[in-house]
Amino acid sequence: MAKLTVRDLDVRGKRVFMRVDYNVPLEERDGQMVITDNTRIVETLPTLKCLIEKGARVILTAHLGRPKGKREATMSLQPVSVRLQELLGRPVSFVGDCIGESVEKAAMAMKDGDILLLENVRYYAEEEANDAGFAAKLAKVAEVYVNDAFGAAHRAHASTEGVARVVTGRGGVAAAGLLMERELKFLGDELENPARPFVVILGGAKVSDKIKVIDRLLEKADSILIGGAMAYTFKLAHGIATGKSLVEPDFQATALAAEKKAAQLKVDFQLPTDTVVATPVDTGKLNKKGKPVFEMTQVRVVKGGIPADAEGFSIGPETAAHFAKIIQGAKTILWNGPMGMFEDARFAEGTNVVARAVVDATVKNGAKSIIGGGDSVKALNKAGLGDKVTFMSTGGGASLEFLEGAVLPGVAALSDKR
Ligand code: 3PG
Repeated sequence: MAKLTVRDLDVRGKRVFMRVDYNVPLEERDGQMVITDNTRIVETLPTLKCLIEKGARVILTAHLGRPKGKREATMSLQPVSVRLQELLGRPVSFVGDCIGESVEKAAMAMKDGDILLLENVRYYAEEEANDAGFAAKLAKVAEVYVNDAFGAAHRAHASTEGVARVVTGRGGVAAAGLLMERELKFLGDELENPARPFVVILGGAKVSDKIKVIDRLLEKADSILIGGAMAYTFKLAHGIATGKSLVEPDFQATALAAEKKAAQLKVDFQLPTDTVVATPVDTGKLNKKGKPVFEMTQVRVVKGGIPADAEGFSIGPETAAHFAKIIQGAKTILWNGPMGMFEDARFAEGTNVVARAVVDATVKNGAKSIIGGGDSVKALNKAGLGDKVTFMSTGGGASLEFLEGAVLPGVAALSDKR
């Protein structure tokens, strides 16, 4: 059933406790934490503007990183409050806690249209434990609950799930924000009855991470294109050499079963025919995590098997061109996971060719292109094409779980539309 959204709410003068996903990437520069990508903040602005217009008093709560119940200074949301203030063009107050007296005092002093951001909710271990007492403490200042944190909706935590239950349990409402609504529409409703051909592009490192998505989308897609390191497990399952590539020997049967299901359902299931490989050479150095650092030498394209001294890093040019042709004819596209190690320019071309084909299909063919979050979004932004697709999810793990067909606890806890 459809969920209540902020559009349905009468919130004038009410304290709206709104969960957002401000888990943004930060970098330390001259002792200061600097936000390197503010997409997740920008994407909450429509909900905030809607609530401000309606005269709500908005109390924002979020997590940043995984501080595991400790006050990690590098994971403070204070820099986020500054960026939000700039983006919103109006004052945003910040409280250095998420529960207790300081929060209650600030919340009681709010006027209609005011915005208050609370400190990292994961500074308390009770958040991830979805502790009922902690949820009640958070909910103390909440008259209405709104969840716009799609990216954290797969977590049954106190601020994503518990507070919604407390608020609805005392007769209040828990509504979806506009970003949450958009995510559910594009990753959910739009893919239920897609315009055809429906082409699904799946990449990433592991078959084990994506198999549930493959399985579910096999029921709906016309074509599934497989790239990324995940393709090497398929190769292995076919008895083709994979050299030093990342493979999951335990998932060979799973890979073959997916191909068999595709054949039964008459889904065009495409695996790479060529690969960009390199020969890793141990530099004798260790990285920050104490792991050996390898230098990638002799970058080259191979067809079929991967030589014993080499490791696969991307789909090759023949595969990329073939995939692009299929993508350009699509009317609906779902893309989750890059085609290779796009962060390194030597291995980025396969992913970039696919990105350009997705944009071409969108612009020239009127296709709906939906980018399922995480690294594929990063790859598209890196190629400067992020604004040329229909929808880019702000979720990582949440998008994947939702595409697998899972019920997300943060969504389930919201009130149904009446
Ligand atoms: C994300 O970045 O995917 C979300 O903010 C969830 O973060 P988590 O994986 O630490 O729960």
